[in-house]
Amino acid sequence: MNDVKPRLVISTGAGMSAESGISTFRDSGGLWENYNVMDVASADGFARNPKLVHEFYNARRRDLLKALPNAGHLALRELEKYYDVYIITQNVDDLHERAGSSNILHLHGELMKVRTIEEPTRIYTLDEEHIETTPDSIDADGNHLRPHIVFFQEAVPNIERAIEWTQLADIFVVIGTSLAVYPAASLLHYVRRGVPVYYIDPNPAPVSADVTVIRKGASEGIAELTRILEENLRGE
Ligand code: APR
Repeated sequence: MNDVKPRLVISTGAGMSAESGISTFRDSGGLWENYNVMDVASADGFARNPKLVHEFYNARRRDLLKALPNAGHLALRELEKYYDVYIITQNVDDLHERAGSSNILHLHGELMKVRTIEEPTRIYTLDEEHIETTPDSIDADGNHLRPHIVFFQEAVPNIERAIEWTQLADIFVVIGTSLAVYPAASLLHYVRRGVPVYYIDPNPAPVSADVTVIRKGASEGIAELTRILEENLRGE
């Protein structure tokens, strides 16, 4: 009996957290309609006006504290009963963690973490009582704190590991992303030939014909995917 579980690798974007009440970026009413991304989420913007950037992420944290994992997050955790599940997320929220998923890799950083500018490997997790930072926030050694977020114009340190995970996938799933931002969007190209790819999104970006598109929201779409995978497992 082959008791090694198939490896299910899932790449999630902002649409994964939409049903938790977290704004996406490029949908109508999304964050980039109300903020200039280069002012609040780029290295140049942070250098130009760090106060504005700290305030942007303080507001994101306030939103996150009001959010809960949705049925889609919980369904991904449930899939761990049958699969070795690896989640690569562009999201900076901690909803996959709070849903109980085991293997999570953040490509664009983590909202509830800050790091010091002087020593970037010094990373702290904010507690819920102290989620606001300013350009004058410092750690015990006087190092200045910044959001532990990958700004535009900055490298994506976890992309190599994300590519390794993708190359080992027996099934690859993309959920709730416009596939507009690289290198995250390039992961699709690292899936081994013959590995089935599913894309769950109510308004999907154009993808190649061999991708199975489930044109639904995350919770409904993951429920449908789970049914498809169960049939495949029974069929084996
Ligand atoms: N369920 C699933 N997907 C949804 C839902 C939902 N309920 N609602 C919206 N979507 C989809 C949209 O159709 C869109 O394809 O989620 C996607 C959101 O796209 P973006 O807003 O571009 O978010 P994302 O692709 O994650 O952005 C990537 O851009 O600004 C940067 O760093 C930021 O990580 C972010 C990156």
